[in-house]
Amino acid sequence: MTPAMLEIDSLVTGYGQTRVVHGLTMQVREGGVTALLGANGAGKTTLMKTLCGLLPVQSGALRFLGEDIAKVAANRRVLSGLVLVPEGRMVFPSLTVHENLRLGGINDRARPRWRQNVDRVFDIFPRLRERSAQQAVTLSGGEQQMLAVGRGLMAEPKLMLLDEPTLGLAPVMALEIFALVRRLAADGLTLLLAEQDVQRTLDVATHAYVVENGRIAAEGPAADIAGDPRIRQAYLGL
Ligand SMILES: Nc1ncnc2c1ncn2[C@@H]1O[C@H](COP(=O)(O)OP(=O)(O)OP(=O)(O)O)[C@@H](O)[C@H]1O
Ligand SMILES: [Mg+2]
Repeated sequence: MTPAMLEIDSLVTGYGQTRVVHGLTMQVREGGVTALLGANGAGKTTLMKTLCGLLPVQSGALRFLGEDIAKVAANRRVLSGLVLVPEGRMVFPSLTVHENLRLGGINDRARPRWRQNVDRVFDIFPRLRERSAQQAVTLSGGEQQMLAVGRGLMAEPKLMLLDEPTLGLAPVMALEIFALVRRLAADGLTLLLAEQDVQRTLDVATHAYVVENGRIAAEGPAADIAGDPRIRQAYLGL
């Protein structure tokens, strides 16, 4: 078995007194896509924010590449290769595409290679190259999502946390995003993908976790989860 890149053990987190994640245990193994499924409000985004250090760990353990990162600052986690592409994209609207990308590559590890990395992002997303000098606010939703992923790639992630990348996108654009996820995984990136499109997510994923009320309700190889009658009924409407 490949080693676990990210180990989450009995994690408790939330917003001040409001607990949202109540003792969640899961692992992300190196290579491929791990799916994080669950209804609206299940706690997927809260978990991802905690993984990347935007929310504190209240209790439990968090290890990345064997290192205890529970108290490590967010910028240090980026430096070690743990990179969030947040829900809602959060590109800097008044900055250009190129400026957004440069900011993504500002950490000490990736910065020396920022020019090559911009080229690589532009090779993956030719549309971003065409719009390099355009303000991010003027991009379509799908293009903004590409920019958010591109900005994440600029940090040279070892594990990319990808939170609801197809939210609000037209179906054809959502398909493009899933194709991109597949390509990034084939290129060797490890991804943790939170998504509402359960069927497509399970199609690209190797392993899947289902979150309910801040706990893991089911887990297994993606194909098994896709075939589980309970999951099919609750999340696929089948
Ligand atoms: N800033 C906040 N302060 C207090 N509670 C919050 C905050 N953000 C989210 N919550 C609550 O935490 C719970 C989990 O929200 P979270 O955004 O993690 O869910 P999610 O699984 O990502 O849902 P979705 O699929 O809609 O993105 C919800 O009950 C939500 O209302
Ligand atoms: Mg969310």
